[in-house]
Amino acid sequence: MSASMASTEPKVRRSFLSVPDLTHADLERLLTLAAEMKADRGLGRGAPTADALGGQHVALLFEKPSLRTRCTFEVAIHELGGHTVHLPAQFSEAVREPLEDVARNLERWIAALVIRTYRQETAVACSAAAPRLRVINALSDEHHPCQALADVLTLREHWGTFRGRTLAYVGDGNNVATSLAQAATMMGVTVHIATPAGYELPRGVTKALTGLTRDGAELRLFTNPREAVAGAHAVYTDVWTSMGQEREAVKRRGIFADYRVDRTLMAAASPGALFMHCLPAHRGEEVTAEVLESRASVVFDQAENRLHTQKALLAMLLGAP
Ligand code: CP
Repeated sequence: MSASMASTEPKVRRSFLSVPDLTHADLERLLTLAAEMKADRGLGRGAPTADALGGQHVALLFEKPSLRTRCTFEVAIHELGGHTVHLPAQFSEAVREPLEDVARNLERWIAALVIRTYRQETAVACSAAAPRLRVINALSDEHHPCQALADVLTLREHWGTFRGRTLAYVGDGNNVATSLAQAATMMGVTVHIATPAGYELPRGVTKALTGLTRDGAELRLFTNPREAVAGAHAVYTDVWTSMGQEREAVKRRGIFADYRVDRTLMAAASPGALFMHCLPAHRGEEVTAEVLESRASVVFDQAENRLHTQKALLAMLLGAP
């Protein structure tokens, strides 16, 4: 077990449904452990955390498509000495039995449920019904907290420190934007969010963020993307049409057209600014191929760090205290 795992700091709360389920100390500890695990990965079964899950079982239930999240959780669980159980998405539809009963069954056999769901309430209900079950939100319509963990690790790797840094998010005020704003401001990064009117972060999220910020970090909201990226040290965007919104795609392409991240927008940011995207990306839509493939782009670092941060999360939720 690594030095971070042996820490006497309190363990993470039982479930991880959104970023604020972690304290600032939890998040600091998670980033440290993820960096250790990333460095140790080449040791394989000889890594100090190779048996952190001790043969525990983790169920995966995905209502929506996934490449990165599904693969990285599967690999993470395997590399920590755990086992995966794949559940058909139909179990969250509560046709055969109530969702709460599904969760109450699961907690008798498995340690954690990784769930990608449309409704945040589905993950919340599983956690509430089954107190022994660790529920990990692998994306809902409201939050994408596991993505945000990888994003802040990527920022720390490239920046070294968060203090005095500004991140600009340009596009839809969606689940990715919510979790990113929460994690980044919690680490002391000032966050600028530029969205069209009607596509802002939910009001409840912006109100609650004032209680999360540290080290003088601020959340500032814009409608003009050029104003938002001015002086920013990283520019982040996401798809304009998220999973489940496909019928709005044509309308959204019109509404978001001025929010495309291209060479001109990147030039308005601080020299050396990073480009970030959670992927999958739509080249020519929310970002040009030129920017996505540029030296500024760290999108595959973000994708890699999904693995290391989720390993750290699993070890903190399920490993020895
Ligand atoms: N970024 C992300 O969550 O990717 P997937 O949808 O492929 O899991």
